[in-house]
Amino acid sequence: MIITIANTVIIVSGISGFLAFLLVLAEKFFANYGECKIDINGKKELVIEGGSSLLASLNENKIFLASACGGRGSCGFCKCTVKSGGGPLLPTEKPFLNSQEINKGVRLACQIKVKEDLQIEIPEEIFNIRKFKAEVSQIRNFTYDIKELTLKLIEPNEIDFKAGQYVQLEAPPYEKSKHSVTRAYSIASSPLHKDYIQLIIRRVPDGICTTYIFDYLQQGDNINFTGPFGDFIIRDTQSDMLFVAGGSGKAPIKSMLEYLQNQGSKRRMIYMFGARTKDDLYLTEEFRELEEKLADFTYVPVLSKPKEGTDWQGKTGYIPPYFPEYIKDPQNTEAYLCGSPGMIAAVKKGLLENGVSEDKIYYDSF
Ligand SMILES: Cc1cc2nc3c(=O)[nH]c(=O)nc-3n(C[C@H](O)[C@H](O)[C@H](O)COP(=O)(O)OP(=O)(O)OC[C@H]3O[C@@H](n4cnc5c(N)ncnc54)[C@H](O)[C@@H]3O)c2cc1C
Ligand code: FES
Repeated sequence: MIITIANTVIIVSGISGFLAFLLVLAEKFFANYGECKIDINGKKELVIEGGSSLLASLNENKIFLASACGGRGSCGFCKCTVKSGGGPLLPTEKPFLNSQEINKGVRLACQIKVKEDLQIEIPEEIFNIRKFKAEVSQIRNFTYDIKELTLKLIEPNEIDFKAGQYVQLEAPPYEKSKHSVTRAYSIASSPLHKDYIQLIIRRVPDGICTTYIFDYLQQGDNINFTGPFGDFIIRDTQSDMLFVAGGSGKAPIKSMLEYLQNQGSKRRMIYMFGARTKDDLYLTEEFRELEEKLADFTYVPVLSKPKEGTDWQGKTGYIPPYFPEYIKDPQNTEAYLCGSPGMIAAVKKGLLENGVSEDKIYYDSF
């Protein structure tokens, strides 16, 4: 009896799977949606061949929505408001949208397939985001798994961005990846340098883009990116600033501090950088020099797992227990955090426990 039920389940699942497969094939090879119009903000109209995602269709027309995961539906960055023509909300979109957004018609552009005319709304500043071609003019190794890339702009030859923003780098197809992929990287250089940008990139084992960067990309190669994106930027106040970062999260903070130095900022600034061992520290000398150049800046590297027998004299353990020592006036402190989601959650909890207001805690997590 049990064997008969099991066999029936296997046969039914097999038939359903086969039918679903046929549907996908039919959709891929036979579906023809013809020309579709995309009305943007009631001001601009695109006429495109239906069948691609809304994100890809916009990209082809040089309208670049943020899409840190490259359209895989895992970052939730590619939001836009769809007034008509987007079809039903998909289960893949729901985890990224709150009820207010769902009621307003906010959708993930990478998940919508253009099958009919669409009316959408996007923020006006998206029209300023451009695609850049650049040359890799320098590659520097910072640690065993962190590199800095300097990208000299070719076309356009200048970029305007705010310290803390990021770009989306395009890794072309290569031996280990059949398709080009796009990934987000924070700009590490100062916005005052408009003819190049620097990125600080940590290798992710087996990661598509970072394997390309670490094992294939060479000085002198050309590479494309879009940007600038993001609102992890310096708030224009006179409040104290507490920066906390780990790993490659140093990138946007470096850009912010170099910008603040150039502006002659007198704000009180503390930068706590979390690393496991001394081997994970980098740019230490540069940040020590910034202590001299900025009016009121302290750099505090903290090692969570210093190797036994090393001559480390600095702070050890986790960062939050040191907050009472460094946060003088919690109500007048802005916190800028960049690191892994786990690190951001732990640091945010520590900041709230030490009296920093939630609305003054800004972060990029990756
Ligand atoms: C706004 C923003 C800014 C960013 N800025 C930077 C930056 O300045 N420097 C930088 O190095 N990265 C940055 N990232 C992360 C970067 O975009 C990529 O996610 C990362 O480089 C991995 O890409 P990949 O193609 O090599 O790995 P993928 O092929 O995408 O991933 C391979 C596998 O590794 C896992 N994985 C992905 N990312 C990580 C990770 N960070 N740690 C551990 N496992 C991971 C995935 O779940 C997957 O299983 C940023 C991300 C965002 C959203
Ligand atoms: S591009 Fe990442 S979710 Fe759409």
